[in-house]
Amino acid sequence: MPEKILVAVAWPYANGPLHLGHVAGAYLPPDIFARYHRTKGNEVLMVSGSDQHGTPITIKAEQEGKKPVEIATRYHKQFLECWQKLGISFDLFTTTGTENHARVTQAIFLTLLDRGYIFKNTLTQPYCPKCQRFLADRYVEGICPYCKSPGARGDQCEACGKPLNPTELIEPACRICSTTPVFRDTEHFFLRLSAFNDRLLDWVRRQQHWRPNVLNFSLRYLEEGLKDRAITRDIDWGVAIPVSGFEDKRIYVWFEAVIGYLSAAKEWAARHGDGEKWRDFWQNRAARSYYFIGKDNIPFHTLIWPAMLMGYGDNLNLPYDVPANEFLTIEGRKLSTSKNWAVWLPDYLKHYDPDPLRYLLSINMPETSDTDFSWRELVRRNNDELVATYGNLVHRVLTFVYRNFEGKVPEHGELDAQDSEILASARKTLETVDGLLYGCHFREAIRVVMALAQAANRYLDDKSPWKTIKEDRKAAARSLYVALKVIANLKTMLYPFLPFSSQKLHEYLGFSGSIEARGWSWQELPPGQKLRPPQPLFTKLDDSLVEAETRKLGQTSP
Ligand code: MF3
Ligand code: ZN
Repeated sequence: MPEKILVAVAWPYANGPLHLGHVAGAYLPPDIFARYHRTKGNEVLMVSGSDQHGTPITIKAEQEGKKPVEIATRYHKQFLECWQKLGISFDLFTTTGTENHARVTQAIFLTLLDRGYIFKNTLTQPYCPKCQRFLADRYVEGICPYCKSPGARGDQCEACGKPLNPTELIEPACRICSTTPVFRDTEHFFLRLSAFNDRLLDWVRRQQHWRPNVLNFSLRYLEEGLKDRAITRDIDWGVAIPVSGFEDKRIYVWFEAVIGYLSAAKEWAARHGDGEKWRDFWQNRAARSYYFIGKDNIPFHTLIWPAMLMGYGDNLNLPYDVPANEFLTIEGRKLSTSKNWAVWLPDYLKHYDPDPLRYLLSINMPETSDTDFSWRELVRRNNDELVATYGNLVHRVLTFVYRNFEGKVPEHGELDAQDSEILASARKTLETVDGLLYGCHFREAIRVVMALAQAANRYLDDKSPWKTIKEDRKAAARSLYVALKVIANLKTMLYPFLPFSSQKLHEYLGFSGSIEARGWSWQELPPGQKLRPPQPLFTKLDDSLVEAETRKLGQTSP
């Protein structure tokens, strides 16, 4: 029975370009996972979209003198282009600006209201007397009451990751004009998170398969006790509140963005001609959902969204796993978009191929601790590992066979011990990688695959078919056959990580159709199968790019 896997991916704010921190943290891992499961023959639904509401977008729009919708549309288009070039294979990448999303959000809001999980209350909010407006979320900044870092925003402290209420900020100031705000009363709706504390604690404690950082972070919160939180704002850009008297306020961006996972599944179902199909992924008890996010988003996915789902009912599945990643630093420093200490994805994709980046960010994935991106490391790993180890293995075997065996997979005859050993180790690697990918251990998985590529190189060096062919053509044919077979299986294992080069290799080996269609199983390679003329899978990167690219970092006008 194929498994049903919902791959739920964090919704990026459509207020600026994507950078490598986004890719390593939240976008590459789910793509690897989705490709792996599709190859396994499982049914995958991978959804996300642009998070286009809230103060992240309005602040950007004000800075540029544009309307929020213009900003959101610009970056949404750019995101779609990036996914396509980088090979991030969403089944649907929509936006929170759709009518469907508003409808689903409002239905959940009203149900929670009806059940008493949402209630109305007066909130004391910062109001800037100079700007004459309420300062929602990012419009007010101050010192974090928990970790005492300056520059904490009204909604969250970036330094310690705690969600905040603006009244908690020490020395609050208007972000636009630096005026100290006054506090004024305003009517808002609140989510009764306190009502879910016990149920959540019970549930989270049972999630022993979660990554330790995700589990412990969530438990710590619950042990402190969840506070009820305002889920509407004094702002005019967002999903309307479906209650009269609240026409000039909007639903809080975080409350509705997480609902996107469900609304996107519904949109996907409707677009695919079966409006009920979303239920397979949400209401089938055997379906599992994986939420791929950066660590700053943990409480929204392990606590708030599950609480909303518990309160809403309708038999919806709670998250099965939330494999949140740590952060990617850039050249040893914390990534900062405002200081332009970032490598922007559109820039990268304009100049370089997607697979080398996917490779580096996979083998260096910030799964259990922060990891660093550097251009030197990109060049090194590309040249020494992709080109010299894997690419060279593939290319020397393919070109040699192509030239000396009439462009066909050679006959193998009887295998010797060394042949059987490398084949057995390839089979075992396929199994190991299967288990690792199933458990979202991406970094370890690609390390194991690369170790097999190295072993295959050693095998070939030992056998040296280019020498033996002169005196023993059969022996040469046999070791080339064995090497080709290992390569055919490497291609399957590397496909989730390196989809572009793997598909090329698939074709050079004489296969047609997709790798996914052939399945995650031991790949046979029929002797006599016609190969296609091979090209190198990867190209060397020039050392000079290291300096040129590193120089761009931190420059304020990119
Ligand atoms: N836009 C948020 C961010 O970039 C992530 C939202 S994830 C969602 O931090 F699921 F809640 F949408
Ligand atoms: Zn102000």
